[in-house]
Amino acid sequence: MYHILIVDDDKTNLSAAKNALSGTYKITAVTSGEQALRFLKNNVCDLILLDINMPEMDGFEVMERIKSDPEHANIPIIFLTADADPQTESRCLEAGAMDFIAKPFVLNVMPSRISRLLELEALRKDLAGQLEERTRHIKHIQRMMVLGMATMVESRDMSTGGHIKRTSMVVEIFAAKLAQNKSFLSKSFLEKVIRAAPMHDLGKIAVDDVILRKQARFTLAEYNAMKIHSAEGARIVKQILEGIEEEEFVKIAVNIAHYHHEKWDGSGYPEGLSGEEIPIEARIMALADVFDALVSKRCYKDAFPYDEAFEIIENSSGTHFDPQLAKIFLECRPQLEELYQNIT
Ligand SMILES: [Fe+2]
Ligand SMILES: [Fe+2]
Repeated sequence: MYHILIVDDDKTNLSAAKNALSGTYKITAVTSGEQALRFLKNNVCDLILLDINMPEMDGFEVMERIKSDPEHANIPIIFLTADADPQTESRCLEAGAMDFIAKPFVLNVMPSRISRLLELEALRKDLAGQLEERTRHIKHIQRMMVLGMATMVESRDMSTGGHIKRTSMVVEIFAAKLAQNKSFLSKSFLEKVIRAAPMHDLGKIAVDDVILRKQARFTLAEYNAMKIHSAEGARIVKQILEGIEEEEFVKIAVNIAHYHHEKWDGSGYPEGLSGEEIPIEARIMALADVFDALVSKRCYKDAFPYDEAFEIIENSSGTHFDPQLAKIFLECRPQLEELYQNIT
C-alpha cells in the first residue's frame, strides 16, 4: 500500500484529505513543516501532499529541505493551496512540485489525480531501474571486453605473461597504502586507478610481434618502435571508453596508458614530462609496472631478489619515480612480497 504524508496546518483540510484517501492509502497527517521533516528522518513515503501557506515554515521551504536530502529528493510532492492563481501554480511547478491541488478539495477528483501520479511515478521508477540495470550490464560487458583485449595483447608478448594481472594487484596494494597516507587521493579516484591499471599496455597491440617476442636486447630502432605503445595505448583507450565510461575514469585510464613510462626527472617517454607534470595516476602506475618487471623473470633476465628490487626503487626515487610516492610504495614491501609468493 502506498504511503502518503499530508502536511497542512488547517485541521479541517487535513481531515478532509485523510478521509478521502485513507481507504486506499496509508496516511500520515501532520500539521507543520517541522513535523514533516521529523517524520522523514526515520520514515519513507511515496508521496507528499504539502500545504503552501503555513505559519513558521511555508511549503516552499519544506520542499527545498526535503529535496536537498538525497534520500528523499525523489519523493513526488503535490502542493495544496487556496490561492489557485496562475503565478502560484507556476511557482509551485518551477520549485519542483509534480502537481498542484486547489483547496478546498474537490473530493472525487483529488483521489484520481493522486492515483494517476502514483502510477506515473511507479512507471518512472521502473524505467529508471531498467535503464540502470541495462547500463550496468553494458558496462560489465565493456569491461570484460577491455580485459579480454588486454589479455590478448599480453598473450602476444611471451616475456610478460601475467604482467597485467600482477601489476593490477600491485596497484591495488599500493592504492590501499596511499589511501592511508594521502588524504588528497580520494577513495573513488584510487578505485578508478585500480580499474584502469589493466589497460596500461593496451597500445602494445600496435607493436610488431617480432619486437614483442624478441628474446635479446632491442636495437635503438626496435626500442623506438616499442615506445609507441604508450601514445598508441592512450588513443585506443580513449576510443573504447569515451561515451561509455564516466569522463574522469576515461581521463585516468588515458593518462595511465599515455604516461606510465614518463620519469620524474623528465628522461622518460613519450613526452618527456617531469615532476608533477606527469599525472599522478601515471606516477602510481610507473612504480607498479617497474616493480613487476624487476621481480619477474623475463626471457632476457632473471627475477631480481626483493632486496635488490626494492633497492633499485629506492635509488630511483627522485629520478625515475615521484619521491613521495616511492616512499609510500616501499612501505608496501611486506604485502607485495606476500602477493608474489602466492602467485609465483
Ligand atoms: Fe608499458
Ligand atoms: Fe607494463
